[in-house]
Amino acid sequence: MADERLIVALDFHTMDDVKNLVNELGDSVNYYKVGMELFYSVGAGVVEWLKAQDKKIFLDLKLHDIPNTVAGGLCSLMNLGADILNIHASGGYTMMKTAADSLRNEAAKRGIDCPKLVAITVLTSINDKELSDVGFAADMQSQVVRLAKLTKSAGVDGVVASPQEAKLIRENCGEDFMIITPGVRPTGANINDQSRIATPAAALANGANKLVIGRPIRAAQNPREATLKILEEMSSVQ
Ligand code: C5P
Repeated sequence: MADERLIVALDFHTMDDVKNLVNELGDSVNYYKVGMELFYSVGAGVVEWLKAQDKKIFLDLKLHDIPNTVAGGLCSLMNLGADILNIHASGGYTMMKTAADSLRNEAAKRGIDCPKLVAITVLTSINDKELSDVGFAADMQSQVVRLAKLTKSAGVDGVVASPQEAKLIRENCGEDFMIITPGVRPTGANINDQSRIATPAAALANGANKLVIGRPIRAAQNPREATLKILEEMSSVQ
């Protein structure tokens, strides 16, 4: 019943909350995202617990530092066995290339599967004004495409981007490039602090491989029902 294109964001800070939601969603969800709020609160134990439940994990810690530090950090995180790790594309080509190469070399040395590595283009909460306030002269779409192409050229497996830019990224970076989109809101849902949003079906139709959905499931009165509705909508796009 689960669809591995759906990743549910566990933006909690206690293991009790994690266990309640994961148990409630049961076999409807196989993929979870562990972000900084949860990881900084409960540590690596959450990844071990999810793996023990046979769940896949996107460990969303968004590393952004000098190349050597990011590469070392990712190799340390690889010990936990998450399926996807991530970095910020704005850390630059050398940082991304060093990170991707180090992960692959280290995985080969240890004889383990290399986790996928994806890069954040522009956070989905950022709008045009905020982009220009931090000094980027390019418009949103050009900035996202520029970073997605840079990511690909550095040997990184894909990007995290808004569903509104997924189509453009797919056109510019080809089929063999993972696009993960947060900022997904079922019709009629609260958009919260997200700016560049789309519905689950639109995000997939635009070329996204995976959707990260948090509050529309977590904050629903009945999270399992909300998930099943989203899965049904997703099943219309294969
Ligand atoms: O609750 P909501 O569906 O907005 O959750 C989206 C999740 O995706 C959050 O955990 C957020 O940190 C994450 N995210 C994002 N935009 C990005 C990258 C990750 O919203 N560009």
